[in-house]
Amino acid sequence: MKKGFMIVCDGSNGAGKTTVIKGVEQYLKDKGIDVILTREPGGTPIGEKIREVILDPSTPEMIDMTELMLFGAGRAQHLQQKIIPAIDAGKIVISDRFDAAMFSFQHYARGIDLTIIKTINDLALNGFKPAMNIILDLDPCEGLKRVKSRGEGLDRLEVEKQEFLVKARNGYLAQAALAPETFEIVDASQSKEAVLRDVLAIIDTLLIQHQLAV
Ligand code: TMP
Repeated sequence: MKKGFMIVCDGSNGAGKTTVIKGVEQYLKDKGIDVILTREPGGTPIGEKIREVILDPSTPEMIDMTELMLFGAGRAQHLQQKIIPAIDAGKIVISDRFDAAMFSFQHYARGIDLTIIKTINDLALNGFKPAMNIILDLDPCEGLKRVKSRGEGLDRLEVEKQEFLVKARNGYLAQAALAPETFEIVDASQSKEAVLRDVLAIIDTLLIQHQLAV
């Protein structure tokens, strides 16, 4: 059986990942392509428990290394339990965030040494790499406004200083500049329709590359 592949939708908090992911899922299903949605932190029962611990705003005392290793632990479980089996079964896996977020948030924003991030991430991924990271790029100030307007409370990372989220955003842009073959940046300040249109153009190219275009 032909293997599937993984697409990651990532970017600034409040940039509209959920809407885009649902749109992509529908687009692929309409083409008869088997697709599963997942997320990080989370994606498995163990990962969802880890997510609660990581994002809990009532524990601001969590040290950076604890946070990093929890993200890493969740990723190892996610990959082995869910992502690899789905790809082996020929599915396209769409994840709401994955390892690019670890480089953006734990390295560029928190300032943890790059070699430490790579060590933890390599342990979790064991050579695996998503086919594409689609980054929805938005000024974090605008993103937080959108999160608040949805009436959602802010999580432990969103209550960080504005400067932290700006560094994370710049981290995505820096990664994209270093690896243009696996990163695409989409301007998330556009209308929802325009953002989805841009993302679907990227998906079409991926389908052609993976000989799944119909
Ligand atoms: P979200 O599900 O609302 O996007 O929240 C997840 C948060 O976790 C978001 O602020 C980004 C952050 N994050 C990291 O800091 N490192 C990681 O490795 C991942 C996957 C997410």
